Amino acid sequence: MPIVQGGMGVGVSAHRLAGSVAREGALGTIASIDLRHHHPDLVERCKASPDRATFEAANQEALAREIAAARRLSEGRGMIAVNVMRAVSSYADSVKTACDAGADAIVMGAGLPLDLPDLTESVDIALIPILSDSRGIALVLKKWMKKNRLPDAIVIEHPAHAGGHLGVANVGDIGDARFHFARVIEETMQTFDNLGIGRMRIALIVAGGINSHAALRACLAAGAAGVQLGTPFAVTEEGDAHPAFKRILAEAQPDDIVDFVSVTGLPARAVKTPWLARYLRNEERIRTKIGARQQVCPTGLECLSVCGLRDGIEKFGHFCIDTRLAAALRGDVANGLFFRGREALPFGPAIRSVRELLDLMLTGRAPAAA
Ligand SMILES: Cc1cc2nc3c(=O)[nH]c(=O)nc-3n(C[C@H](O)[C@H](O)[C@H](O)COP(=O)(O)O)c2cc1C
Repeated sequence: MPIVQGGMGVGVSAHRLAGSVAREGALGTIASIDLRHHHPDLVERCKASPDRATFEAANQEALAREIAAARRLSEGRGMIAVNVMRAVSSYADSVKTACDAGADAIVMGAGLPLDLPDLTESVDIALIPILSDSRGIALVLKKWMKKNRLPDAIVIEHPAHAGGHLGVANVGDIGDARFHFARVIEETMQTFDNLGIGRMRIALIVAGGINSHAALRACLAAGAAGVQLGTPFAVTEEGDAHPAFKRILAEAQPDDIVDFVSVTGLPARAVKTPWLARYLRNEERIRTKIGARQQVCPTGLECLSVCGLRDGIEKFGHFCIDTRLAAALRGDVANGLFFRGREALPFGPAIRSVRELLDLMLTGRAPAAA
């Protein structure tokens, strides 16, 4: 099936969404970051012993449970992938857990996945980097070829349309022509030719703002093997986040969606809910006051390898991303950070099922609401 469900942290794409997508024969993705929030016993364990080692162990246990649960739900159909962000400090542990738990693929973004072949050596698992332009793709291909490995697919994510963290250094670069799907695909095909890689060898999957059957067809016509959708899957009935999270995403108007600099240093896209509006209003003041000051990690998880808040990096964002994303997951509209793509959704503000979304994307016909 030419449709992939993109990984969405924290906890937005866990076993229920990924397993439901796989059951329809498509590729479902579990986002590996901080999955303990879906497991009350692990949350209790972390409260009883609030140290980083316990948090990390709980998250890896939660990931293994989520993979097993998604597999059961999939009834053996489709594929179950695990999304790992390279910028996260536990990325190598999450790759290992995904391999041990029998995931079908690892999808890695938010940084260059140069060591992914080493981390998965001798494991039969598909490797799928997420990149945004042909220069990044050429770099990864050349490095991986030295290790005798090729990606099985590449997700090409457009920073002007996608949700969450965006693969570009500066907010001002988001609309650059080098990210246009047709151009990235064409340049990547030339790179394949230059490196002696068959044009059909690596599937190219485009992501960001694909919201209709017509858009899917246009991507396939431009040479993509498939499309990855994020926000449209986040708001399905089977999406693992709280119903209030889905309503915030589904009902957001174009003016409500903003780009800003995250604590990772990367630009990100989200809905301007009360907390984000307040943060952006005070961003300059916060930066001047505490921007260059190192802070103790508020959760103790130390989730990021480099964090603007903890490490006192002035030009990065200054908030606790884990706290904010976890609040959004449980539907805390006042305090959460609600990542979202830029474009309108296939069913507008309606919450529909995974099957209905896939039907609409594949046929262009909207099934009647149940
Ligand atoms: C709520 C949300 C969380 C996301 N979290 C992640 C993540 O943890 N890792 C990642 O690689 N991409 C993440 N993304 C990006 C999606 O996987 C997907 O590529 C992107 O949203 C596609 O654009 P669309 O939302 O317009 O379909 C996230 C997107 C959203 C909307």
